[in-house]
Amino acid sequence: MNQPATRRTALATGTAALAAGCVGCGGGNGGSSPASASAVPSSPAPASPAPTSPVSDSSDERALASTRDIPEGGGKVFGEHKIVVTQPKKGEFRAFSAVCTHMGCTVSKVADGTIDCPCHGSRFRIADGAVAHGPATRPLPKKSIKVEGNSIHLT
Ligand code: FES
Repeated sequence: MNQPATRRTALATGTAALAAGCVGCGGGNGGSSPASASAVPSSPAPASPAPTSPVSDSSDERALASTRDIPEGGGKVFGEHKIVVTQPKKGEFRAFSAVCTHMGCTVSKVADGTIDCPCHGSRFRIADGAVAHGPATRPLPKKSIKVEGNSIHLT
C-alpha cells in the first residue's frame, strides 16, 4: 500500500533533492504521506537567474510603446529603436526617425512642439518632422506605426 508515493511526491522530492544537494535522498524521515514534502528544507532557493524573455515578440509584433507613454502635444524618443513617437493632437500618433538629418545624432527630447537634437540645436516639428530650426535642412523621415488598443507598433 505505497500508493501515495506518486509521481507528484517523487517530483517534489527530486526537485528538492536537486536544489538542496540531495538532502535526505532516501526519504528517511519516515513519512510515507505526501505531507512529507513539507519536511523538506525550504530554502536553498531558486539559484537560477530570473527567466529573461527572449528577444522575439511573436505574440505582440513589435510593440514599441503604450499610447500612455506619449504625451499629448509632445512625444517620446525611443533611442534603442532610433524612433521618436509624437502625439500632435489627442489620439493622433506619428513616428519619425530619431536620427537627425543634419549630421546623424540621435534626437534627445521632445519639448514645446519640437523634436530636439542635442548636437547642434536642430528642431523638428512633432506633427510632420519638418525642420523648425536649423542647421538641419531636411525633415525627419516618417516611420510607419500602427496603434492597436493602447499599443503602438512599428509596421
Ligand atoms: Fe542634429 Fe547637428 S546632428 S543638429
